[in-house]
Amino acid sequence: MAETTTEPTDRPVRWGFLATGKIARKVATDLALVPGAELVAVGSRSQDSADSFAATYGGPSTRAHGSYEALVADPDVEVVYIASPHALHLEHARMAFEAGKHVLCEKPLAVTVAEAEEMVALAAQHDRFLMEAMWTACHPVVRAVASGLREGRFGAPRHLHAELGFVVDAGPEDRLLDPALGAGAMLDMGIYPLTVAHLLLGEADSLAATATLSESGIDLDIAVAGRYPGGALATMTASMTSWSSRAATIATDRGRIDLADFHHPTRATWTAYDAGGTNDRSGAAEPEEIVGEEPVIGEGYGNEVAEVGRCLRAGLRESPLVPHSQTLTIMRQMEAVLASVGVTYSAG
Ligand SMILES: NC(=O)c1ccc[n+]([C@@H]2O[C@H](COP(=O)([O-])OP(=O)(O)OC[C@H]3O[C@@H](n4cnc5c(N)ncnc54)[C@H](OP(=O)(O)O)[C@@H]3O)[C@@H](O)[C@H]2O)c1
Repeated sequence: MAETTTEPTDRPVRWGFLATGKIARKVATDLALVPGAELVAVGSRSQDSADSFAATYGGPSTRAHGSYEALVADPDVEVVYIASPHALHLEHARMAFEAGKHVLCEKPLAVTVAEAEEMVALAAQHDRFLMEAMWTACHPVVRAVASGLREGRFGAPRHLHAELGFVVDAGPEDRLLDPALGAGAMLDMGIYPLTVAHLLLGEADSLAATATLSESGIDLDIAVAGRYPGGALATMTASMTSWSSRAATIATDRGRIDLADFHHPTRATWTAYDAGGTNDRSGAAEPEEIVGEEPVIGEGYGNEVAEVGRCLRAGLRESPLVPHSQTLTIMRQMEAVLASVGVTYSAG
């Protein structure tokens, strides 16, 4: 990783938001809670949206630009947060890099592996920071579970189950249903179970999937079974047609970890079945809360904003929590799994 400190370490990180949709609003709400992070500008395809976003989430000096070009050209913007639909991420990241900005880009980084690799190459070519906005990997509780598993505190993981889905009630032009904008349950939701399995079990040895497709050829529902290092197994689902529990369970040879809202855990517990190592299955211990080493900032988006700031002030070009290699591994997994069920996207 290249290390070139370009800014004084005590200077606030100056953010520019590209797009004003649902996720941009949530991340802006959390950004306001992060010490040393400042929303200096927002760019939208519409001046009205930019004005109203700046008025709601910015301070008195936050600038509102009526185009993405004007946002990336703003000399005060240091890092651009890309919150547009996935199919446009590469185009918007290229724009930001060419203007000399660092980039935090919403998940998935792109629609195809080829596009994601191009984005990583562009970051290197322009010597800029790039991170996929995989907030789950920055979440203190997910990090605590991952480090506990690595240290053997919870025994050896044998089976992970994670499911994420909600009923998408939107018109065909919505980004969640429009194939041209990268629609599909895997890219939108399935990325989370795959990422959590990767963070907690390691890189998958094999994955197999089955899916139900829409008439337009996108995956509405998808189920993936994976085999991970040490023979641990995972079952993972994503759905745009049903209300899932949004829970994950990791069963180990000593007990069970339960995560509520697993992609940004609102509760995580460890229930030991064999605390004394006697293989006594007569009764489980009381669930024990798993807490992170750092507080959760806002809904958890604040922790990814803080991580970008930490990296930028340390002169890093990628985050150790969301390294490019991890993002590309998950992109390759999604592309292979989708191809196996008959879903392909053309590179943008
Ligand atoms: N991390 C998370 O928890 C999370 C949650 C939801 C979504 N996401 C990701 O964030 C991205 C955006 O999702 P979202 O739910 O915020 O979507 P959204 O509400 O539809 O907003 C997308 C925004 O992108 C801009 N845009 C530019 N070109 C567009 C086009 N051709 N069609 C539609 N919008 C266009 C628009 O902003 P302007 O009108 O201001 O230009 C629009 O408001 C996706 O990649 C998604 O996967 C992440």
